[in-house]
Amino acid sequence: MSTPSPAPAGGGRQRPEVVVIAAVAEAPGTPSDRLIGDGLELPWHLPTDFKRFKTLTTGHPLVMGRKTFESLLHQNGGPLPNRENVVLTRHPTRVDHPGIHVYSGLTEALDAFADAERVFIGGGAGVYRSVLDEGLADRLELTFVEGEFSGDTFFPPYRHLLTPQGGPYELASRERFPAADGRPAFRFDTYKRIRGHGTP
Ligand SMILES: NC(=O)c1ccc[n+]([C@@H]2O[C@H](COP(=O)([O-])OP(=O)(O)OC[C@H]3O[C@@H](n4cnc5c(N)ncnc54)[C@H](OP(=O)(O)O)[C@@H]3O)[C@@H](O)[C@H]2O)c1
Repeated sequence: MSTPSPAPAGGGRQRPEVVVIAAVAEAPGTPSDRLIGDGLELPWHLPTDFKRFKTLTTGHPLVMGRKTFESLLHQNGGPLPNRENVVLTRHPTRVDHPGIHVYSGLTEALDAFADAERVFIGGGAGVYRSVLDEGLADRLELTFVEGEFSGDTFFPPYRHLLTPQGGPYELASRERFPAADGRPAFRFDTYKRIRGHGTP
């Protein structure tokens, strides 16, 4: 499988690798398909996924929408430690919390971390949609959670972006976890953008 690297930005300078990280319900043909959120909560509790999220994102800027940041405050009591918490809002003066970076747009946020090795995009729905629509992601770290759940926030349509449907993202690795102890089956899929494949 190919190993793409971030395209050089203007002037030939490397830009950060942009990585989408999301846990997404997989239940084709049901109302749960592509579910990611339920109010300020996730629709499931998967400690193994939390651990992976922490391992992958620690040390790197994590860009998120204002509501996802509010859900972090609700669940975690504050910003996530040991990484830059980068919050998007169209009303920057209304979001004030120690230790976070606030930007009024995705481009401004990515420009601010242009020297980072890697930037993670941590949702929610509109932020994921912008990054995918604009073809900005180099890699997708997706946790697919099997089953039906209740919730109100959805990952954007993505299947057309994967190589079997002619899209630019090719499966690079997959790790499966069967249902156990009342928890649903899930898997970790890493997709990488094929070098030279244009924006979707
Ligand atoms: N399963 C997962 O992996 C995952 C990951 C993240 C979140 N979630 C879940 O998703 C839900 C939250 O997501 P959400 O989609 O409702 O909200 P969200 O994307 O986190 O936040 C939406 C807000 O972010 C700001 N924003 C978004 N895009 C922007 C842009 N391009 N420029 C400037 N500001 C921008 C706006 O804030 P203002 O209104 O302040 O202008 C917008 O109202 C929660 O349930 C959370 O648990 C799940």
